[in-house]
Amino acid sequence: MTSNDVNIVLVSNRGPVSFLESDDGGFETKRGAGGLAGALDPVARRLGDHAVWIAAATSDIDRAALEAGAVDDLEEQLGYPVKLIDIDEDTYDLYYNHISNRMLWFANHCLWDEIGIERFGDDALRAWNDAYEPVNEMFARKVAEAAAPDALVLFQDYHLATAPGHLRRLGDRHTISHFTHSSFCGPEGLDRCPAPIPRSIIEGMLGADLLGFHVPDWCEAFFQCCEAIDARVDRTEGIVHFNDRRTWVRSYPIPTDATELKERAHSPEATEWTKRFRKDTDGPLVVRADRAELSKNVVRGFEAFGRLLDRRPDLSETIHFVACLYPSRESMPEYRDYTEQIQRAVDGVNARHPDAIRLFLEDDYDRTLGALRIYDVLFVNSIMDGMNLVSKEGPAVNERNGALVLSRGAGSYFELGDHAVVIDDPYDTDETAAAIERAIEMPPDQREAHSDALRKIVERSKPQDWIQAQLDDLEEVSRGAEPKTPASPSR
Ligand code: G6P
Repeated sequence: MTSNDVNIVLVSNRGPVSFLESDDGGFETKRGAGGLAGALDPVARRLGDHAVWIAAATSDIDRAALEAGAVDDLEEQLGYPVKLIDIDEDTYDLYYNHISNRMLWFANHCLWDEIGIERFGDDALRAWNDAYEPVNEMFARKVAEAAAPDALVLFQDYHLATAPGHLRRLGDRHTISHFTHSSFCGPEGLDRCPAPIPRSIIEGMLGADLLGFHVPDWCEAFFQCCEAIDARVDRTEGIVHFNDRRTWVRSYPIPTDATELKERAHSPEATEWTKRFRKDTDGPLVVRADRAELSKNVVRGFEAFGRLLDRRPDLSETIHFVACLYPSRESMPEYRDYTEQIQRAVDGVNARHPDAIRLFLEDDYDRTLGALRIYDVLFVNSIMDGMNLVSKEGPAVNERNGALVLSRGAGSYFELGDHAVVIDDPYDTDETAAAIERAIEMPPDQREAHSDALRKIVERSKPQDWIQAQLDDLEEVSRGAEPKTPASPSR
């Protein structure tokens, strides 16, 4: 256990809450989206004023709340202080949309061909120089200002890849970690960014003492990028040596909170959805739940399902597919187009097989949990995915010994692959259709054995263990020792 008086600084683009306008013209808060906030918040709460969370003001309302002093009240509400960085709107747009969520997101998920981008050019380089780097430096300065002398600093994700390097350049001597929540593609992903961006990203990350990824494959992809800039990689020890510094690299697969999830899945709201889905479906139920996101490969998933029904008219009469999708990053044209493509793909299948797919395109977690409780097949066909928490949430709440169809590109394949029907090539819709078919027709005893095994795996750790392991390792590293977590094994 980390000693109680340790000081930590959590640093992420999106903070633990975002602000909304309340009816009386004041502010109210909404929990930050994604697994990141859920995993880090309990640690910050436990540490109280020994923790501070630094994030960006991500919207006009966040900026107004900052100006009005509402951010200072968060300490009372959350139990720990939060500091938001005020970044002007245009700069934030370039840093967040153009670089983080377009160039780096697509690079980290090997999605260049998917979006038809051969290379990024001068505009991207300008956005990098004028926005991404200055914003990362702003984060670094804020950390230098806010961190107690003995504090451990934990940067999160690809939005802040170069912040550790900036902090070092400021002469800072804190012990620093950086965790990448997405997948990592390797040199063939990064090299389509204009020079010097690939090198700056790797050098920036190597400003940290400890780098975390969800699974060993992403560590390996990172090692290859390090070798591409002539850093020395020791895979046995899990260390990268560069410019007289050493950086430990470890994998920490993020868990879901199975107990909390089960409770929420039995709330009256979620239960109502379970009942409705049960009433409306008389045959096997296939479920997917994702952000409407290119890396999740949603369109090919529906096409594969359509193909299966085309060649199996017997199935077509009874099977249903419930898709709970959440609109995401709607300020970006790639995401708006993709959402339209999703709708067209569903219409195409439903025109041939009426009502086969029920598509929900709005954020409703209770509905998702309601559907997850009763799937026969949980369908995850991501091209690449840092972890894919849905593939863990499903087995945690499912009550039907449901089978898991899982792409090899999802980080969770590392832990769950032995008990899933695996899609080797998520671009191949025939293979994907065959995987859904195999999952539907899996004999009951096999389904039971696999779903028991999946449940055990997802129940064996909690998000708090995930962050605690990183804190313990960082404390070791700050003492000059090696992390307790061993170097990543390869699968
Ligand atoms: C992924 C990223 C997170 C991000 C989340 C939601 O999980 O790893 O850093 O917060 O997506 O995306 P958004 O752009 O809405 O923050």
